[in-house]
Amino acid sequence: MRILLRTSVAMLAFAMTFSTWSAAQNAGADLFKSKCAMCHGADGKGETAMGKKLALRDLGSADVQKQSDAELAGFITKGKNKMPAYDGKLSAEQIGDLVKFIRTLKK
Ligand code: HEC
Repeated sequence: MRILLRTSVAMLAFAMTFSTWSAAQNAGADLFKSKCAMCHGADGKGETAMGKKLALRDLGSADVQKQSDAELAGFITKGKNKMPAYDGKLSAEQIGDLVKFIRTLKK
């Protein structure tokens, strides 16, 4: 009986961790689509009219992906050249979700 209880607690913990992770990924994907895709494109490649004008790098490229989570979060928070700053518009948690989403674009 005790073993059964322990197994179900472990399974519940696993399920909870897993669902938070995928919920964060979905939140990041939704945010990206609504706030970022007009410049970076839904796939992050920057193949939009704005993206071409601004000479955006492909967010999934090695050059962008080699930067740390903190650096990527910094660009989103503070902006970079013509990239708008999202400080005050997005919470730190939302920015974290976006960084996670950008990691899924890695080739
Ligand atoms: C108005 C167009 C625009 C929008 C909207 C925009 N960006 Fe950007 N983004 C840029 C530009 C311009 C750069 C900087 C390119 C450069 O000069 O290096 C950039 C750079 C970045 C970088 C750094 C990439 C690199 O080359 O190292 C990240 C990460 C990024 N944007 C994420 C986002 C996220 C996440 C959002 C949505 C919250 C977003 N951007 C919305 C225009 C935009």
